[in-house]
Amino acid sequence: MFIPVNRPLLNGNEKKYLNECIDSGWISSEGPFVERFELMFAKKIEKKYAISVSNGTAALDLAIEALGISAGDEVIMPSFTIISCINQIIRCSAVPILLDCDPFTFNMNVEEIEKKITKKTKAIMVVHIYGMPVDMDPVLRLAKKFNLFIIEDASEVLGQDYKGKPCGSFGDISTFSFYSNKHITTGEGGMVAVNNKALADTCKGLRNLCFNPKKRFVHNRLGWNMRMTNIQAAVGVAQLERIEEFIKRKRDIGKRYNKLLNGLPNIQLPVKKNEIAENIYWVFSLVIERANPMTAETAIKKFFAKNIGCRPFFYPMHMQPVLKKKGFFRNETFPNSESLYKHGFYIPSGLGITDNEIEIVADAAWEIFN
Ligand SMILES: Cc1ncc(COP(=O)(O)O)c(C=O)c1O
Repeated sequence: MFIPVNRPLLNGNEKKYLNECIDSGWISSEGPFVERFELMFAKKIEKKYAISVSNGTAALDLAIEALGISAGDEVIMPSFTIISCINQIIRCSAVPILLDCDPFTFNMNVEEIEKKITKKTKAIMVVHIYGMPVDMDPVLRLAKKFNLFIIEDASEVLGQDYKGKPCGSFGDISTFSFYSNKHITTGEGGMVAVNNKALADTCKGLRNLCFNPKKRFVHNRLGWNMRMTNIQAAVGVAQLERIEEFIKRKRDIGKRYNKLLNGLPNIQLPVKKNEIAENIYWVFSLVIERANPMTAETAIKKFFAKNIGCRPFFYPMHMQPVLKKKGFFRNETFPNSESLYKHGFYIPSGLGITDNEIEIVADAAWEIFN
């Protein structure tokens, strides 16, 4: 039987709450689960306001627009991330300024930020990658010193802490995704979170076409329809009720793999913990070290041949054909990001995986790499 890279766990109150949506007829974004989910979520990540949206990409688009980032503004961000982070920066003719990443935590090199700051810099976009948090103290210090916004993409680290405070609590705007491979899922879905009331109102307007509260079909600004439905939010509430249990299980999956794969030749396993945090293993990554000439692409094919789904690492932003075509990043190289793409991939570790499946995957890894 095929073991997919991710299988979500939907065996809490999901069906019960979904039935409530159907029975009550509240299936659009106007139903009661939306507000319930937002309030619960804000509390969890210690923000005053959480505003649900249709997905994590929309959350990032909205963050850029809500902060008023526009043509010519510079945004410092990692190269090793998903395209969602850069889309709206490009679309609004702002300028992405990239950073390379750490080869072990995969997170952006925060010590490189200061030398990239110019008069045009408007924001630092922090993206916590694969389960370990970015070192936030230097980012917070620089943002304060140079009066910059922080956009914190915590899509991959809901439930993770940085020095005792929740990831996602640090940004002027923080963003989240609830795609089915995330720590909690709504199928598709996302959230932005802020502390500032005026910014919260801006976000609420932007996600709902900027309807004028007094004259409904008169618009003073262009927004989007990024509304989350009551059906999605119902699943979100049921999932968020179990977040502590989910994070515990993710750590347990990570520990099991670490134990079973310990000593796998020429393979870099994920960081277990560092001085900042203990890994929550959003994904369980393998990086093939130089001594083994196999690429991640070949390794993934070998796992697939054994009925095991795997995914490659992110393709760095500075190498993206769509951005190259537009003239970005012409002579820029970020060696760690490039090497991670070539040599890194991740194995099944979704919340629905069984301990037996973990053993099957680990056995396959030994056969492939030994
Ligand atoms: C860090 C990060 N940001 C944003 C997104 C985009 O979220 P979505 O797929 O919900 O649009 C993802 C999705 O995997 C992600 O990992």
